[in-house]
Amino acid sequence: MDSVRYIGVDDVTIDLFENQYRVPEGVSYNSYLILDEKTAVLDTVDKRAGEEWEENLLRELSGRSVDYLVLHHLEPDHAGSIKRLVERFPDVVLVGNAKTFQMLPQFFHFEGKTLTVKEGDCLSLGEHELRFLLAPMVHWPEVMLSYESKEKILFSADAFGKFGAIAKTADDEWACEARRYYFNIVGKYGPAVQTVLKKASALDISAIYPLHGPILRDNLGYYLGLYQTWSSYQPEDRGVLIAVASIHGNTMEAAQSLAELLRAAGEEKVVVSDLARVDMAEAVEDAFRYDRVVLAAASYDGGVFPCMQEFLNHLKSKMYQNRTVGLVENGSWGPTAGKVMRSLLETMKDVSILEPQVTIRSTLKSTDLPALKQLADALLAAAR
Ligand code: FEO
Repeated sequence: MDSVRYIGVDDVTIDLFENQYRVPEGVSYNSYLILDEKTAVLDTVDKRAGEEWEENLLRELSGRSVDYLVLHHLEPDHAGSIKRLVERFPDVVLVGNAKTFQMLPQFFHFEGKTLTVKEGDCLSLGEHELRFLLAPMVHWPEVMLSYESKEKILFSADAFGKFGAIAKTADDEWACEARRYYFNIVGKYGPAVQTVLKKASALDISAIYPLHGPILRDNLGYYLGLYQTWSSYQPEDRGVLIAVASIHGNTMEAAQSLAELLRAAGEEKVVVSDLARVDMAEAVEDAFRYDRVVLAAASYDGGVFPCMQEFLNHLKSKMYQNRTVGLVENGSWGPTAGKVMRSLLETMKDVSILEPQVTIRSTLKSTDLPALKQLADALLAAAR
């Protein structure tokens, strides 16, 4: 009989995770139960899913009570049902670190029993033992992971999470929605993830149990390798993202021409993304995925067309860095987009801007093609 049970919930009714990320396939709030001499629940779920989660918990407990509730992360998608558990099992001991209990009253008034753990502390449940690894800023400052030594499980909190309800996405490739999740939610905190990866490398891990998405059991080197690439801000794939902010379609036409030039020259992966329509989180994901990006934007109100401004704001806040960028601007009078995009890029670490910057006036003309060709050549030469 398995001692470690999944008691999480798939949420397929949510439209925007964190009220900002589109999740057409839903999302899972993972929660686990360890049954041993003592019982431990590892994280709760969003209160949206509290009722179903409680049913799962009671079914798996089969009449036992809960001795410990381990709080790896206090964000409401995981801590939203603590109250529900405490009301049903008032003798439960809440397990967290100093920061957990500093933050807990901000969410929830609790006067019951707590156990404060530090890095490396262990909690014995009988045959199973949890060792705690602090992981500050692997999303929030109070985050911690735990390692269960009998089954060799790493409970990884938000790390190795993925969008998508588990039942709906069981056959999907993991990396696609895991990458969109990583860069948009954890992407800013690469150095913190690197620290955790270092701690994980010292452990003998047979499975990773994250707080969203499927449990990872096989080929763990693949997942750990992607996290190493992503958290060190290295491009994952050779390719060019052309991110376009076009008002009437003329800047898009220039972007498509550039894409054709690149493809004709043998560039295999060229993605053209219409920032006015695309899922912005996916454009952000692609910017991090590929080694080169082209920003093609119309000028607007003495600046840059708003969806490009928004895209660059997202990149800046997610610590975009270590990439090569080309610029295409459009302006019918006094073009300003290039200057604004350049000034934002110059605030980012190790972003090199290619020459020439291409300026088109209102519409793409045959006289613009030599400059576009020069930019295409520069992009090809900059491939890693
Ligand atoms: Fe899944 Fe940072 O919460």
